Amino acid sequence: MADPYRIVEVKPEWIINQEDMGTKTKFWYRDPDDDVNWLFKYPRQNTGEHWAEKIAAEVASVLGVRHAKVELARFEGACGSATESFVRGGRALCHGNELLEWTVGGYDPKKKFHQSEHTLANIFVGMDYVFENPEDASLAKRTLAEYVVLDALIGNTDRHHENWGLLRRLEGNGLRGILFLAPSFDHATSLGRELLDERRNRFLKENRVGGYVEKGRGAIYWSEDERRGPSPLELVRRAVRTYPDLFRPAGLKLAEIDENVFSQIVDRIPADWMTSLARVFTVALLGYNYRPKYTTVI
Ligand SMILES: Nc1ncnc2c1ncn2[C@@H]1O[C@H](COP(=O)(O)OP(=O)(O)OP(=O)(O)O)[C@@H](O)[C@H]1O
Ligand SMILES: [Mg+2]
Repeated sequence: MADPYRIVEVKPEWIINQEDMGTKTKFWYRDPDDDVNWLFKYPRQNTGEHWAEKIAAEVASVLGVRHAKVELARFEGACGSATESFVRGGRALCHGNELLEWTVGGYDPKKKFHQSEHTLANIFVGMDYVFENPEDASLAKRTLAEYVVLDALIGNTDRHHENWGLLRRLEGNGLRGILFLAPSFDHATSLGRELLDERRNRFLKENRVGGYVEKGRGAIYWSEDERRGPSPLELVRRAVRTYPDLFRPAGLKLAEIDENVFSQIVDRIPADWMTSLARVFTVALLGYNYRPKYTTVI
């Protein structure tokens, strides 16, 4: 078996500032021996958000999806995750809600829940608007399609409009100077990380891992008149039919993965960071999401 993932020990003197965006407690730090900033995130109590971040990033790597690098990290004895910043070199992050506010009439960028205008179709409209060159727009859409397929694979139900974005030149204004889609980030709400072992056990015993996945509600909607977003897996099932050209490359990447890689990724989480049941459940969830019918459409 491969070595466990390393654990970064974050020192108090490395802290730069708290990050106020998002809902979890977290701060930015920089190791003096490193030249980039990292975001330390505490998991919510009784959740596996820290290992979910790490496993999701490793799954993104094998899938070949651009993503922020993640390490397991510890701060003052607390376990967490650390995410490498991709905002550097004179660039800034423009969140999805900013793009949609500018490009979709009446879009409310502050709406946190039930933002049913946050549809795949509206996101694609925004991209067509913001990239002057159709090739650039198409690349951004195909890259987002890869994030959507990653979400379906890991069961990420939190791809809301501040959990994806575009990188732009720092000196740019508004939508001017947009360069490309930012790497995928914030995968903490995935892999059944909120479940307690008792429920995991029940789902596994009763063969209901699929039922759990299908009940999940994602933060990207299919149509504005839906009350709730489809599950991340259902979103992909619909999207491959409507946008086959955009989703085909992501589907092909998925088809190339060997299913055994999931247990190899999960096994590398250090022993006391994740229970055995959480490991079995996570691998079962990845397996369920990996074997769907949508690849046959592609
Ligand atoms: N790798 C990164 N590089 C640059 N900025 C980042 C990165 N990861 C996160 N951020 C910024 O920090 C904010 C908060 O981070 P993140 O989304 O991971 O936190 P969260 O508390 O889990 O959020 P949520 O409320 O969506 O659960 C993001 O909205 C984004 O602006
Ligand atoms: Mg977030």
